[in-house]
Amino acid sequence: MMIAARPLTDYKMTAREAALLERARLALKRLYGETDETFNGLMKEIAGRVANAKAKRPAELRTLDTERLAEPYWFAKPGRAAYCTYIDRFSGTLKACAHHLPYLKDLGVGLFHPLPLLKPRDGDNDGGFAVADYGAVDPRLGTFDDLKALADGLRQNEMSLVLDVVCNHTAKEHGWARAMLAGDPAYKDFYVVLKTEAEVAAWSEDLVDVFPDTAPGSFTYDPEAGGWVWTTFYPFQWDLNYANPRVFIAMMDVLFDLANAGVEGFRLDSAAYLWKIKGTICRNLPQAHDILLAYRNLLSIVAPGVFLLAEAIEGLDEVISYFGEDHDNSECDLAYNNTFMTALWGSLADGSASTVSEALRMTQAKPAHGVWLNYVRCHDDIIWQALAPWVDQKRLQAWSDLYAGKDHSFADGMAFQAPPGLAPSTCGMAASLCGVGTDALGLARLQLLYAVTCALDGVPMIYMGDELALPNDAHFADDPDKATELRWLHRPQMNWHTAEARLSKDSLQARMFDSIKAVLRAQRSLPGWSTGGAAKSVVSDDSRLLVLQRALTKGRFQCTANFSAERLALPRAMDDLITGNTVNSLSAYQVIWSYEP
Ligand code: GLC
Repeated sequence: MMIAARPLTDYKMTAREAALLERARLALKRLYGETDETFNGLMKEIAGRVANAKAKRPAELRTLDTERLAEPYWFAKPGRAAYCTYIDRFSGTLKACAHHLPYLKDLGVGLFHPLPLLKPRDGDNDGGFAVADYGAVDPRLGTFDDLKALADGLRQNEMSLVLDVVCNHTAKEHGWARAMLAGDPAYKDFYVVLKTEAEVAAWSEDLVDVFPDTAPGSFTYDPEAGGWVWTTFYPFQWDLNYANPRVFIAMMDVLFDLANAGVEGFRLDSAAYLWKIKGTICRNLPQAHDILLAYRNLLSIVAPGVFLLAEAIEGLDEVISYFGEDHDNSECDLAYNNTFMTALWGSLADGSASTVSEALRMTQAKPAHGVWLNYVRCHDDIIWQALAPWVDQKRLQAWSDLYAGKDHSFADGMAFQAPPGLAPSTCGMAASLCGVGTDALGLARLQLLYAVTCALDGVPMIYMGDELALPNDAHFADDPDKATELRWLHRPQMNWHTAEARLSKDSLQARMFDSIKAVLRAQRSLPGWSTGGAAKSVVSDDSRLLVLQRALTKGRFQCTANFSAERLALPRAMDDLITGNTVNSLSAYQVIWSYEP
């Protein structure tokens, strides 16, 4: 028998839930509270939808919620990394993913993050980031039931499903866009449409193109819409108009439905772009933060423990703001540590640890309640401009050139588009950027990047293929939908035959896979890894060495990394937790982990 969802009036919120609702109300009041009368009606509707979603939450997930409330940082367990991939490239389908859970478990994965898999538009869809239906899975990958089954299967194996919610824009073919164009009053103003070229020019003055080469400008003329539609990214990705509270509600329902299907964490795509004000860059505006604050609090009522990851690849100060001011005003639980990641590649290029050491110091400015998602590579380009506030363009350009393989450098990447006059971003798989397969020290470089990244406090993320030192996809341009988009260079097909080679001792794959496993294992072996202090860099006499320390519950952890191609003597012999050896010196790019109880 179907049990009808309880209407709001029947649902008595707990004190905790009422406090969360109040926090959301304050944020929403700032956004939509022009008149009390309409705002009160809006809040009533939101509270009703929250109560309905809560009533629909399956019993098994409610049990999980109770456990998670007692362990708020459950997603940051020692030795349990995040793993990011595309389902079609990893396993072909959602169902087939089940065969590879032992592989993920063996590696030490705790969070499984497939990139967007909801039904996209046909043809080019920016790797799934142009969603045509949030209620359905891409039919090529499976069904909604397959998604739920994957979430269950992961949970049974102590892993959690993380999904993208592409919240800034939809495909232009999405039902909301179609309904707006058809004149349905319920979907009026769901997107931003400017009526005149003069308006486009006025807004554009302060905007910065994301894809200046492949999608210049932020507006696309659409005859059906009778004007210029806001399209921050590709012309087929229409920005939603969050100034309209119906949009806020529509995306809130998407979050609730996916959470109730078993998704345990959301990556909020392009979170920086959610609000637009003329005369500003339309990124990181306070209103975008209020939207996130409201989602965080409402979701904490429906599905406590489901985390939010901010996808904001911005300068450090802006990124940090996505954690929210303090615990009570928390927005996103996790954010990409792009400052550290970018600086790490810069330091590797320089053969000196100074840049990464400075980045480490700077990234400590985050509030204690927020957790970094630390990573080496992802499906996007390395955006050097994120360091522009403190590194000059000349150096950024030198790094961009080096990774594009200029002057016979060790790297085999490509320069990606950037606004005129600024150092272009970099595309390429980590292994290819490190010179694996072409340079004798390539593997040592890649191992260094992961060993240093895993030494930080926070959650380390592995980008699919890095654990096997998988190189660039040399054939990406054979597909006409991908040929003009260089980011496909670093989105290769998983090669399960190559993956098997990790089981052969001393193979390249074994050396990389085992090195990641070893650092994750070491994390698990150290008492108080997750609750310990933040990673700090210690001044070293030799700028080629990064010395990173963390105070753990009982003792002190240290990661010592040689960023140069020379052998460096250590001041004293040290026991390395990664290899189990005692070492007096570090070979080129060698990293050791040590612990003093
Ligand atoms: C995010 C994604 C990127 C995508 C863009 C537009 O930045 O990571 O891959 O192109 O959003 O959705």
